[in-house]
Amino acid sequence: MRLSKEQLHELISKKIHNAGLTEDHAAGVADVLVHADARGVHSHGAMRVEYYAERIAKGGINNNPEFSFEKTGPCSAIFDGDNGSGHVAAKLAMDEAINMAKENGIAVVGVRRISHSGALSYFVQQASDADLIGISVCQSDPMVVPFGGAEPYYGTNPIAFSAPGKDGKHITFDMATTIQAWGKILHARSKNEPIPDSWAVDSSGEPTTDPFKVNALLPIAGPKGYGLMMMVDVLSGILLGLPFGNKVSSMYHDLTEGRNLGQLHIVINPEYFAGLSSFKEAIAQTIQELNNIKPATGYNQVYYPGQRSAEREETYEKDGIEIVDDIYEYLISDVIHNNAYDNKSPFAK
Ligand code: NAI
Repeated sequence: MRLSKEQLHELISKKIHNAGLTEDHAAGVADVLVHADARGVHSHGAMRVEYYAERIAKGGINNNPEFSFEKTGPCSAIFDGDNGSGHVAAKLAMDEAINMAKENGIAVVGVRRISHSGALSYFVQQASDADLIGISVCQSDPMVVPFGGAEPYYGTNPIAFSAPGKDGKHITFDMATTIQAWGKILHARSKNEPIPDSWAVDSSGEPTTDPFKVNALLPIAGPKGYGLMMMVDVLSGILLGLPFGNKVSSMYHDLTEGRNLGQLHIVINPEYFAGLSSFKEAIAQTIQELNNIKPATGYNQVYYPGQRSAEREETYEKDGIEIVDDIYEYLISDVIHNNAYDNKSPFAK
C-alpha cells in the first residue's frame, strides 16, 4: 500500500492518540515515524506503532508526563522526559540544544528517563535544518554480544550525525552500532524473509539466517563496534546517572513500566569555528567530491551518507510511501493492540 506523508501521519497520530497519548504528543510521535518511513528506514516507522500503542495503553509510556529542562552550565543541560514519549522528549530537548548552541556555540543536552525515540536522524536533522551540526546517541536494550562474549551486554546503541550543506542538502549519517538494527530483524520477520548469517546469533551463539531464531546481534567491525557501543552507553547512560550496560531496560520485558532510557544531543555551531558559509561551502564540496569518486566494480556511484535516504524521500513524495499491507490493515482498524509484544522476553515475538 502506498500512502502520502499526510495520510500516514494522520493514521499513526490517530492510533497513538487512541492508545492514550494527547493529540499533541501523538502527532509528535507520528512526525518521527513518518520521517523514518519517508526515508526508507521502515524498521523505525509505522511498523512500530502497534508496539508503542500497547506500551501506552498498558502505562509503560506516561501519557501525561511532566517534562523539565534544567541548564547545568552555559552549554550543558538536562531534559527530563518523565518516561513520556521518547520521540517527543528528544525532539523538544533538541529544540533547547539548538537555542543554546545558537547563543553559546555548543550545547550538550542529556535527555533522561525516556522511552524509545526511534530514528535518530530526525533529531540531528533538526540541528542541520537550523544550520548547526547535530550529533545524537542513545541507549537501547541489551541484545548485543560484546566482542568475544556469548551473552548480550550492550544495546544496538545508535550514533547519528548531521551537517548542513548548501541548498538544503545535509550529510546525515545515522547507524546502529550493530551490523543491523533490531528493527531490521523485525522487518524481516514482518515480511517472512531470511537474514544474512552475518547479522546475528541464535541461543547457542551460532550465526543464524532465521529472523525468528535470533537471540543476540553482532557489533559492527568486531572490537571497534563494541568500543563504539560502549562509548554510547557511557555518554547516554552513565553520564546521565541512568542504568547502564545489561541493566538497561528491555523493550519487550514489561510494558507497564517506564524504560528510563537516556539520550545525549550535542550541537555545534559552525559560526564559532570555520564560519557558517565556508563550512556549508566545504560540506557541499565534500558531497560533490564524494559523488565524483570513480565507482568500484559492481557499484554505480559513491553516495554521501544520507543521500539514498534523501533521494528515497523525494521519490516517495511523488509516488507515496510503501507500507506493508498487514501494517496498513492494523492502522486503519479499530484495534489498539493485539497483546503481541508484552511477552516478558527481551525479544519480540
Ligand atoms: P543503515 O544500515 O540503514 O544505514 C546506516 C548509515 O549508512 C546511514 O547513515 C546511511 O545513510 C548510510 N548508508 C547506507 N548505505 C549507504 C551507501 N550505499 N552509501 C553511503 N552511505 C550509506 O542504518 P541502521 O544501522 O540499520 O539504523 C537504522 C535506524 O535505526 C537509524 O535511524 C537509527 O537511529 C535507528 N536506531 C534506533 C535505536 C533506538 O533505540 N532509538 C536503536 C538502533 C537503531
